[in-house]
Amino acid sequence: MPSSTSEGGAVPMIEALGVKKRFGSHEVLRGISLSVARGEVVALIGPSGSGKSTFLRCLNHLETIDGGSVSIAGEPMARTDESGRCVYVPDPQLRRICARTGMVFQHFNLFPHLTVLQNLIEAPMVVQGLPRDAAIARADELLAKVGLTQKRDNYPARLSGGQKQRVAIARALAMQPDVMLFDEPTSALDPELTGEVLRTMRELADGRMTMLVVTHEMGFAREVAHTVAFMDQGELIAARPAREFFADPGNARAQAFLNHML
Ligand SMILES: Nc1ncnc2c1ncn2[C@@H]1O[C@H](COP(=O)(O)OP(=O)(O)OP(=O)(O)O)[C@@H](O)[C@H]1O
Ligand SMILES: [Mg+2]
Repeated sequence: MPSSTSEGGAVPMIEALGVKKRFGSHEVLRGISLSVARGEVVALIGPSGSGKSTFLRCLNHLETIDGGSVSIAGEPMARTDESGRCVYVPDPQLRRICARTGMVFQHFNLFPHLTVLQNLIEAPMVVQGLPRDAAIARADELLAKVGLTQKRDNYPARLSGGQKQRVAIARALAMQPDVMLFDEPTSALDPELTGEVLRTMRELADGRMTMLVVTHEMGFAREVAHTVAFMDQGELIAARPAREFFADPGNARAQAFLNHML
């Protein structure tokens, strides 16, 4: 069981304060506050529709927040001014801050018309301006790390779901992010393929990557996460060290959810 890695006084890698988001009249996030320390692994759990994906998407500006503030590695990305208006930092700065987070989705989102290698070198070359040779060297290293060197020149359609997801993880890592966001990375996979993806994620955690993982995998939450955060109906209701959370989530709704999941 890992211990919490929060270091007193250190700048959090993710700091969300009072984040609000509405779609029309539906308030999907009702003031979410969460802080993730460098090297910390947080499992974000909760019922369907509670706002987990929306919250994750707000952290790298796939959604725009309506209230509160978000900072990544101490750099403010959006904040709410005195008049209650939410303001983002200017675009170039925003892009730079968002580039510090890598995201892995449930459905992989690989480019189907590109080979595995091409999937990995595209963004480093186009976005970071990395020379092709250096991008390939970086990609090969990452493919070795996720155990897919032999699939380097295959197209995604030729891979299993677990392999696709490991390529998606490698592709996110190719941008050398400081924080990895995962949105149910294994829930589209058959059980026998889930294990290989969770192993890759565990290795990342062992390498002290900062990770915020939306998951229904209670085993992963218990064994790999330092902290478990529970969301329900747009609110973050509990966030505790994993061991404590599983012993006593400290909240009736969280307890009911756990009873249902375990
Ligand atoms: N683009 C959108 N437009 C309108 N409503 C949306 C949009 N995206 C999400 N919602 C709504 O916001 C709420 C939260 O959705 P979200 O996808 O964040 O939940 P979730 O906790 O990730 O659920 P799940 O576990 O099923 O993935 C839901 O009621 C959903 O219907
Ligand atoms: Mg979701």
